[in-house]
Parts: sequence; structure tokens; C-alpha cells
Amino acid sequence: MSEPLTQTPLEKTWVPWMKSRLSQRRGSSVPQFTNSPTMIVMVGLPARGKTFISKKLTRYLNWIGVTTKVFNVGQYRRDAAGSYNSFEFFRPDNSEAMKIRRYDADDLLFQKESVVRLFKVFDATNTTAERRDVILGFAKDNGYKVFFVESICDDPEIIAENIKQVKLSSPDYTDCDKEEAAADFLKRIECYKMTYVPLDDSKDRNLSYIKIFDVGSRYLVNRVQDHIQSRIVYYLMNIHVTPRSIYLCRHGESELNLVGRIGGDSGLSPRGAKFASALGAYMRGQSIRDLKVWASHMKRTIQTAEALGVQYEQWKALNEIDAGVCEEMTYEEIQENCPEEFALRDQNKYRYRYPKGESYEDLVQRLEPVIMELERQENVLVICHQAVMRCLLAYFLDKIADELPYLKCPLHTVLKLTPVAYGCKVESISLNIEAVNTHRDKPENVDVDREPAEALETVPDHI
Ligand code: F6P
Repeated sequence: MSEPLTQTPLEKTWVPWMKSRLSQRRGSSVPQFTNSPTMIVMVGLPARGKTFISKKLTRYLNWIGVTTKVFNVGQYRRDAAGSYNSFEFFRPDNSEAMKIRRYDADDLLFQKESVVRLFKVFDATNTTAERRDVILGFAKDNGYKVFFVESICDDPEIIAENIKQVKLSSPDYTDCDKEEAAADFLKRIECYKMTYVPLDDSKDRNLSYIKIFDVGSRYLVNRVQDHIQSRIVYYLMNIHVTPRSIYLCRHGESELNLVGRIGGDSGLSPRGAKFASALGAYMRGQSIRDLKVWASHMKRTIQTAEALGVQYEQWKALNEIDAGVCEEMTYEEIQENCPEEFALRDQNKYRYRYPKGESYEDLVQRLEPVIMELERQENVLVICHQAVMRCLLAYFLDKIADELPYLKCPLHTVLKLTPVAYGCKVESISLNIEAVNTHRDKPENVDVDREPAEALETVPDHI
């Protein structure tokens, strides 16, 4: 094909740029492994929220099914160096301590865990250029992609608050006066400043990273390599630290709950309607300005939300797990008509997918946009369903997939979740309106040839 005689402005600029970008990618210093695991390396000075971000990100990745583990360099340092005396340990001219600190990152951390093919999140405070090379070298030799997350903040108020919230309770300062500990920590930061090298947008342009400025007021994203890294970026750009509470509850007791039938789209029982008005009174008592209320597309959550007398939003993603061919059956009927399916579900309740329906694993995927929006919002009341509430709760409480389908989410009970330091405080508020129990524990015998009585041993009572 012959070259066009004249080039459009787009061809002059965009095409060469694309070509150079593609060749840069091919020549990138970090090897590109298809399906290779990733090391997410947190960098930044102390008290910049790295531990908070790494724990939260790990929780999210595990919840969406990407097995992830945090390696905290500080913990390795504590294990290697023993008890902490003062900031003097962190002085760059403290050669003895420097040996330990180099050892903690380069040997303890890498060699010990290098066999584990996981997503690794390194919470590694002190990233000198030298240490970054060690990380990149390790990644290259072991087939890891590397994604850096740098938290940059110079606001003294934010730093002081972070020290107060999380650093003073660190094992380094057990039995130490709070003010002395805070002063020591500030000196420690000064020691780090002497050697800390921030990511350089020009020199490090071949690295993949996100820079988070001032707790998310601005971001800079460079060279996102794959789908999972773009999800990490999207997640980090949605989280915030504004104090708030998330209220989770199920709809009021439904007509089908009363008779022990799963799924369907029935309305509320008289006790369910009572719960709906009690929920309204409870939420008014919480006096929350700008409370968002979310319901599913199912009659029972809509009727519950209506009783609150406030505006609410409906999410199809919040609909109850689709039990496929088992919809509207009782557990007893499932055992009678499809005993093998019933046993298979007991064997692996998280992965089991109802014929023509869903699994808990499917549900987690469906709920991801809900979690993302919950991260963006402040105070929200989510009126949902048993299986859906278990998935949401598992995210906030960092529960593993095996535990998730058995989390207790009784009817007529509100769970108030309030983020604290690195986790979530849970308060369980029963609104004291009787309801049937719909929770079925895992029975002891999960074999396909078990006796019906063994399969039904944990089925809750109903009419
Ligand atoms: O029984 C109420 C219900 O919400 C059903 O609609 C749903 O199928 C079930 O709970 C989910 O709970 P499990 O996964 O324990 O059967």
C-alpha cells in the first residue's frame, strides 16, 4: 500500500505517538507475563495511610476472588530487631540497624515467600531507589508484575491525625506516653525523609504506578498494564476516609419466609410490615442528614423501603440469589426432588450454582458495582436479602469464601458498620419484632448418599 501524499493532523500526531507507545511497551524493562501474579508495592513516608490502603485493597481483591496477601515490612523489622527503643533506630547513619532493615526487606520478605504465587501487597515504607531495584529484580526473576502505589501528603493535620489514629497503638509504643510517642514518630519521619526517594514521573516513566495525593484529592496514574491493575486504580480512586456508617438489613419477613420457601417475589407478612415501620423509626432516631436508602427490585424490599417515607433508590444488583429451578421450593422439597443438588450445595456452598440460577460466587461479581458505590458514598441504608447481605458483610468484615454463605443475617435485625482504623466496627440492632429463622447451618453429613434426615437436620422451623 502506498503512503498517502498528505497527512492529516491526526496522523501526524496520534499515529506516531501510538507507535512509540507500542514499541515502548514491547521494550519495557519489566517483563510481561501473561497471567503472572502482581506485587503491589506501597510506598511513601510513614503515616501516609499505606497500611490502611494495603489492608483495604487486599480485602477488596480477596473478595472479588483475587487471592492476595499483605506483607508488612514493619512487622518483619519488629520480628528481626526485637523491641523498639526510639527513632534513633531509623537514622540513615545507624549502620547496625540499616543491616537489619535491608535484611528484612531483601531476604526475609522475598526469599521466605517467593514460592507463593499470590498477589502480594507490600506495605514497604522506605523505598529508596536501591530497594526499588531489589523489588524490580525480584519481580523479574520470579515472574511478577509490579504496581506501585505511592501516597503523598504534606498536610501536617492529616499526618498528625493518622499518627493519633493508628501509630500510637502500634507495638512500637506499648506502655509509652502518647505525647512522647507522637514526638518520637515525627522524628522517625524526618529520618525517613533523608533517604526516601519518591517515584519520579520522568525517571520512573517505565514503571506502573498510581500516586495518591492528599488522601485522594488528586491522582496520577502511569502505565496500567492489565485489567486487574485498572480495577485496582478504579478502586483506589473511589475509596475515601470521611467518617460514616453503613446500615445493612434484610426486608421485613415475607409471606414466603413464613412458609419456608426460598426466592420468589412475595410481599411482607404482617410482622414484616411492623418491622418496616420500626426500621423507619430507628433510622429517624439516628438523625442522619443525607442518608441514602437502597432497595432491590423485589416487592419485599420495596415495601420495606416505602414504609420509611423517604426517597430510595432501587438496584437490580441487590436482588436475592437466583435459585433457578429451586425457586419457591422449601429446603425439604429440594431434598426430596433433587437430593444430589442439595448435597452438592452443602459440599461447597460458595461455588455451587443452582441449575439455571446463581452461586454465591456469581452474586459477589454482581454486587461489585454496589460495593464500589458504597465506597464512594457516605451514610447508606441497604435493604436487601439474606444471601446478598452475607456477601456485602463478608466484604466489610473480610470474611473468607468458605465462611461467607453461613454468615448470620437474621430478619428484623440491622447491622451498623462503622469504619475504624484498619477495620469495621459492627453493631447488631434487633428491632424486637419476631420473625421466622431462615438460617440453615451446614449439616455434618454432606455426602450425596446421606439419609434425608441428615440432610434436613439443620433446616429451620417454619409453618
Ligand atoms: O430464605 C430466604 C432467602 O433469602 C432465600 O430467598 C434465598 O434463596 C436464601 O435465603 C439464601 O440463603 P441460603 O443460601 O442459606 O439458602
